[in-house]
Amino acid sequence: NILEDVFDMFCIGSVPMWTLLGSCVGLLEGEFGETSKNTDILLVTTPKSGTTWLKAILFVIENRTRYADMNQHLLLANNPHDLVPFLELKLYVDKQVPDLTSFTSPRLFATHLPFSSLPESVMCSASKLVYLCRNPMDTFVSLHHFANKIRPPSLGPNRLEDVFDMFCKGVCICGPFWDHVLGYWKESLEKPQKVLFLKYEEMKEEPIIHLKRLAEFLGCSFSLEEETLGVVDEILRLCSFDHLSSLEVNKNGKLSSGEENKAYFRRGEVGDWKNYLTDEMVDRLVQIGEQKFVESGLKF
Ligand code: A3P
Repeated sequence: NILEDVFDMFCIGSVPMWTLLGSCVGLLEGEFGETSKNTDILLVTTPKSGTTWLKAILFVIENRTRYADMNQHLLLANNPHDLVPFLELKLYVDKQVPDLTSFTSPRLFATHLPFSSLPESVMCSASKLVYLCRNPMDTFVSLHHFANKIRPPSLGPNRLEDVFDMFCKGVCICGPFWDHVLGYWKESLEKPQKVLFLKYEEMKEEPIIHLKRLAEFLGCSFSLEEETLGVVDEILRLCSFDHLSSLEVNKNGKLSSGEENKAYFRRGEVGDWKNYLTDEMVDRLVQIGEQKFVESGLKF
């Protein structure tokens, strides 16, 4: 790390990585009497790659027999982050060990941890990992807006150019963006039963295909009857950006961490980076991607 960059992170009040790592690893490593269960499902993302969307989708897919009536669904009154908690933030924000035994199986959790930092029990158990990534341009633009939204107004907004430089140098809350993606990409190739690798752009482009893929991976494929009844379309509608962002809970509610739920909904589109990044910035991101992903077969 470059001292000036880390110092800047420190000053803008970024959550210290070591606290996140410590709490997450401790939670599922047995330190608090818990280890990963075979039935656990862990959603892994880099921040701003569509975590909120996929949390909603996972929760609805997994609970679709319990809440068969979509008009009474828990998602209508709860932000997805309250339904599928981040392992690391539960402990970090609430400052108490969450009672993971109170979760009914299959337990649904999320994390931003890089692959190399995952608790060992996650990889030893038969639990499943769903990884969602997004192109670095949109991820960065979304991150920049989000950081400014939650930043204390007294500090003033971050300048896009400054944070862009940090992003490119890999100074990020969960480690460098490209290494994060690459870690899970490689694992998904080696262990396709364990890790499902999804892209935000592909989910947007062909949502039905990817929803079915996801359900199949989780071992709860849609039946012919469900497909005929339009369950897949109904889930996509329930979890869509327009629907979720229009719910009262997401317009005016807050998370236990104090952030406003509406901070997690901005535009929800592919390609908004074109409104913010210069050609030079795009070139720089493309070059880093080419260097990092060379021979991996991974492209955005
Ligand atoms: P934008 O800032 O580009 O609009 P995360 O959930 O990982 O924090 O990512 C937030 C990004 O996902 C934001 O992107 C947000 O608008 C978008 N998003 C939130 N809900 C979504 C949904 N249901 N469908 C698609 N995108 C969604």
